[in-house]
Amino acid sequence: MQLDSLSWFPGHMTKTKRMVVAEMGHMDAVCEIVDARIPRSSRNPDVDEMAAGKPRLIVLNRVDQADPAATKRWAEHFRKKGYAVIEVDAKSGKGVQQFAPAVRNLLKDKIRAYEEKGQVGRVLRLMVLGIPNVGKSTFINKVSGRKTAKAEDRPGVTRTKQWVPIDKTLELMDTPGILWPKFEDPAVGVKLAFTGAIRDDVLDREELAARLLEYLVAHYPDAVQQRFKITAADGENCFELLEAAGRKRGFLISRGEVDFERISRILLDEFRGGKLGVFTLEMPEETE
Ligand code: G4P
Repeated sequence: MQLDSLSWFPGHMTKTKRMVVAEMGHMDAVCEIVDARIPRSSRNPDVDEMAAGKPRLIVLNRVDQADPAATKRWAEHFRKKGYAVIEVDAKSGKGVQQFAPAVRNLLKDKIRAYEEKGQVGRVLRLMVLGIPNVGKSTFINKVSGRKTAKAEDRPGVTRTKQWVPIDKTLELMDTPGILWPKFEDPAVGVKLAFTGAIRDDVLDREELAARLLEYLVAHYPDAVQQRFKITAADGENCFELLEAAGRKRGFLISRGEVDFERISRILLDEFRGGKLGVFTLEMPEETE
């Protein structure tokens, strides 16, 4: 599984990054949308440098798909590091009403300073950043009531940034999702592929499915047993586990061999679609 080369990195993201840096000076704060299933791996490490010195808000999105106990630990972890944090399911809208109050609380000293200068009701500007597919657009639409298309930056599409009003004194800048060119830890790339943030075709889908199954068997054995009728005892390694899952589902090709392509696709689809259950694939204390 080769993910550590520069070659897969979409060139248009370099342009977006330049735009983000150029606009940063106009921002009062930076809001990062993070996938609650992979709160570390879904954070672009370049943001710290790009947003240096700005107050920061982390939106833990997709909480409906993540392990609730783990989400609490992550929220606590980020708060301890000085970030404001809200927990959100942008798809249903659950939690989004916390956004504007959280921003005002984060910026309370700045608001007071503006007021002391006579600038009562001065507009606060936030840049919203997130990797592709994290739910940034859904989140912004929910907090703003916006119905227009999202900020995108791919060949043939020129919407690279958009100002979105939230209320009279709060405006967001929506930006296209950005990844980063090199994963220092290859496990990060693998987790981004599990959730679908990186397209399957840049990785070997069977290896990806086998590794996801191995993780789930180790950490969420009940869910795997319920859905795929297998346990850790059904395989010595990740491919044997995948094979056992395929066999239990009856996905066979000629001469009784397991159809690996099919079980891999189904496993990843069921994981991403939430059919397997709710999971968090990394914990705060793991790699600090
Ligand atoms: P992006 O701007 O960050 O690229 O992501 P976008 O909002 O387009 O969301 C990507 C997909 O993730 C969408 O699904 C969206 O509905 C879903 N999504 C966003 N936030 C959440 C969340 O908190 N929970 C869940 N379960 N899903 C979320 P889609 O299948 O591409 O579109 P749709 O059919 O749902 O509209």
